[in-house]
Amino acid sequence: MKTIRVHLAKHVDHSYDLKIGSGLLSQVGQDLKNKPLADRYALITDSEVAPIFGIPLLKDFQEKGLHAALITFPAGEEYKTRETKAYIEDEMFRRGFGRDSAIIALGGGVVGDMAGFVAATYNRGIPYIQIPTTLLAHVDSSIGGKTAVDVPWGKNLVGAFYQPVAVYIDIDTLKTLPLRQIKAGLAEIVKYAVIQDRSLFDYLQENQEKILNLESEPIIYIIGRCCEIKAYVVEQDEREGDLRKILNYGHTIGHAIEALCHYRILHGEGVAIGMTIESRISQELGYLTGEEVRRQRSLLEAFGLPVTLPSHLNPQEIIQATTLDKKARGGKAEYVLPRKIGEMVTINGRYGIRVDDEIVRKVLSHPH
Ligand SMILES: NC(=O)c1ccc[n+]([C@@H]2O[C@H](COP(=O)([O-])OP(=O)(O)OC[C@H]3O[C@@H](n4cnc5c(N)ncnc54)[C@H](O)[C@@H]3O)[C@@H](O)[C@H]2O)c1
Ligand SMILES: [Zn+2]
Repeated sequence: MKTIRVHLAKHVDHSYDLKIGSGLLSQVGQDLKNKPLADRYALITDSEVAPIFGIPLLKDFQEKGLHAALITFPAGEEYKTRETKAYIEDEMFRRGFGRDSAIIALGGGVVGDMAGFVAATYNRGIPYIQIPTTLLAHVDSSIGGKTAVDVPWGKNLVGAFYQPVAVYIDIDTLKTLPLRQIKAGLAEIVKYAVIQDRSLFDYLQENQEKILNLESEPIIYIIGRCCEIKAYVVEQDEREGDLRKILNYGHTIGHAIEALCHYRILHGEGVAIGMTIESRISQELGYLTGEEVRRQRSLLEAFGLPVTLPSHLNPQEIIQATTLDKKARGGKAEYVLPRKIGEMVTINGRYGIRVDDEIVRKVLSHPH
């Protein structure tokens, strides 16, 4: 027998910049004109975002002499599928997109995940730029390079880690976003504050109104802080093992509620209820004070987010749903819990905590 070793050990630098500000959308074409990324650009977006930002962006690219096409798929999580991926790829082939192409992912998390995954495999990988247009995408899905589609067996089960070349976070895109979606994004922002940054929490509390009015200065500040926190956690995780789990605060209960409500509530709304319950679990275990539980709850309420369980759900079915979560191991759900606002509990250096069903049941039965 003969063995031939293929030497592939290499250090690859996938670093990229997140730009945050106002008026960035119109800068993308200019930047690509100055420093081309490819010969052709596929602007991928959904049916809601296409008329608002897609068509203007396409015009802008064309006016600058860039070769571009707009490819649109129907808006909504139910279209984040392999079928949509194949549709986009077929459209790109039909229009002659070859190896020297790049993708511009223009939209919320659905478009980012979908277009990023197309970029990861089209011609074995072509570069892509993220232009997130929802608050959730600004602070969460556009950072970290996770791309995926949903399958009948679950969400995000087929995908790849694939980093964008650049991310343009244009806060002007929030002006057309429905208020309910803004609030859902704020739930994730409260999450970042609770898991990592007490001064961000104070800032959110002091600037509630300005934030809800989408004033530029506080919006740029809070998006920037959240991006820094997510980038930090994702970077550290490679070394520290389970630090990344802290990003799942509020998500164990949140995901269960989302699933039991058949995704009729928004992810951020599930997370707001989830954080409220999980903070109570932390209090029950003696980590978090009642005062901190109330502070978190009143900030979520001030942002117009739900903090109580939907009345048709009972504790047992919620507990059952948490053990079906893909992060559950051995039939027991894992939680990450705050010790105080800005800091998470670790046990023997680990963030993931198994909590007895009895404690969870007690809190779910008497949430307040
Ligand atoms: N990759 C990751 O790390 C990561 C992290 C978190 C969430 N996600 C994924 O993100 C998705 C959720 O993202 P989302 O909350 O942005 O949802 P979404 O992409 O479905 O957007 C919500 C709705 O708002 C519309 N919309 C988007 N931008 C708009 C704008 N500026 N003005 C008006 N309407 C606009 C969309 O068309 C859609 O109807 C989920 O699929 C989730 O799995 C991924
Ligand atoms: Zn989330």
